[in-house]
Amino acid sequence: MNNISDLVIHYLQRYNCHVTEEYIAVLREACEIHPPPHSQAWYGNMYRQYVRKPEWFANSLIVNAFEEGNGSKQVWQFWQRVGNQDFAKRIRDHSIDESRHSKMFATLVNILFPMSLDEELRTQLKSFSPEYSQENHPPTTLVSAKEVMDESLVMDELIQINLLEIRALILQLLLRPVLQTYAQPEDVAKVTRMSDQFIFDETKHIEYSAYCMGEYLKWGDFDWLREKTIHRQLSVNEMFPVSVDNDDSIGTTILKIGSGE
Ligand SMILES: [Fe+2]
Ligand SMILES: [Fe+2]
Repeated sequence: MNNISDLVIHYLQRYNCHVTEEYIAVLREACEIHPPPHSQAWYGNMYRQYVRKPEWFANSLIVNAFEEGNGSKQVWQFWQRVGNQDFAKRIRDHSIDESRHSKMFATLVNILFPMSLDEELRTQLKSFSPEYSQENHPPTTLVSAKEVMDESLVMDELIQINLLEIRALILQLLLRPVLQTYAQPEDVAKVTRMSDQFIFDETKHIEYSAYCMGEYLKWGDFDWLREKTIHRQLSVNEMFPVSVDNDDSIGTTILKIGSGE
């Protein structure tokens, strides 16, 4: 039994998300071969130690506002190079969600640390989100045929997205009680609603990327997907080295696109 895949399945079921048995089997195996640090008890314990320091926690929220905004822009660039229009639409919606997440993190900083930001930092914090929404986003013009990514590269990105979204879900689960503890009594309901939204969205991001992996298997190679997922679980684990010098990475819901081999 592997805790992280069971946890992911629990949240997928909670929100009535459908994924294939093959996806679940591949995820279980990848997490068993390369257990993600964020699935382990010591990781949660370390996070809880760090968040006791208000400066660290405030900074972690600011880093998240930045990273979610950055992730949104990267995901937007990605969909433009995806030939499969069913996948492209889902990736575009993902970009819009991450843009909103950036704004939500900025709002959380303002709710939980209202006095600690000067005007300049407050303006900077707002600027991290590209402000994409269903009504307001860059033109959805397609790139030229020669810029369309090879199908295997698209799937490689989607596998990484899937594994990173699992990490984002775990971090949202760790963040939830911390938000409720830091909030003034009158703000607890509001930060809880925001946490509900984050957890729902991150679960839906796992679902859509798992859906794309399932669609790929209708015409693609199962062994390739399985091996790629195992390999990408290792690279995702290595993307976030946990060290005292790099403690920013512990609490960030970062989404990295195009990290290469
Ligand atoms: Fe997010
Ligand atoms: Fe996400």
